[in-house]
Amino acid sequence: MNKETKMLDQVFSLDRIAMITAYEFCTARIFEQAGVDMILVGDSLAMVFQGKQETRNATLEEMLYHTRAVVRGAERTPIVSDMPANSYSTPEMAVENAGKFFEAGAHMVKIEGFLPEVVQALLENKMPVMGHLGLLPQTAENYRVVGKNPEDAERVLEEAKNLDRLGIPAIVLECVPLSLARRITDETTCKTIGIGAGMYCDGQVLVANDLLGLYDRKMPKFVRKYADLSQVIRQAAEKYASDVRTGLFPGDEESYH
Ligand code: KIV
Repeated sequence: MNKETKMLDQVFSLDRIAMITAYEFCTARIFEQAGVDMILVGDSLAMVFQGKQETRNATLEEMLYHTRAVVRGAERTPIVSDMPANSYSTPEMAVENAGKFFEAGAHMVKIEGFLPEVVQALLENKMPVMGHLGLLPQTAENYRVVGKNPEDAERVLEEAKNLDRLGIPAIVLECVPLSLARRITDETTCKTIGIGAGMYCDGQVLVANDLLGLYDRKMPKFVRKYADLSQVIRQAAEKYASDVRTGLFPGDEESYH
């Protein structure tokens, strides 16, 4: 078993998996020091890092660039990279582009939607893949909870069971009712990683900028803000600017003699 497979096996043997997004070196390094179990280079970077409107605006080159930066910061943590919209439209295309993420240092790729042929092709090529069901930001018309009505719930459950049968090791469940997430978790062997999917999943993932309070957009209900870094950063920048203007920075101790 190679090192990468061992790392993933270790994480997927945990009872509860804590995954967090990262887009660059410094935060990836801090998250590794904090002992998070997995890091996701999410295409949410198009919104929270680049300030664009949609995750589907992330390009393949950008995702690879951010993957490399995160890999440098977190060498001992399994890294999952989102394959961006339109980069896995056919099984052949998925295998070719996924290979670029593994070359960049990712341990696993994540794809959105129910795409059994793509999942099968990746697994046959020994490319670990994470699914993503429920709300699918790359294609969704609007952001809403998916699976509230019985037909939708049945469909998502069946999709999860089918991917599970193919041998997918984990599936992100985004914005689904907790009862549905619970059924999927109970009725599949793969790990479920929830975001807005309640407490019965095997793991959780949050967008780092949301949980750190770096992004002042209106937060979805499922986000818990663990810090208010925008305030910390604003205060530090205000103090710095004021010290420069009043001549308090740099002082003698910050100068060369
Ligand atoms: O892009 C992302 O950050 C994600 C999470 C919301 C799961 O896919």
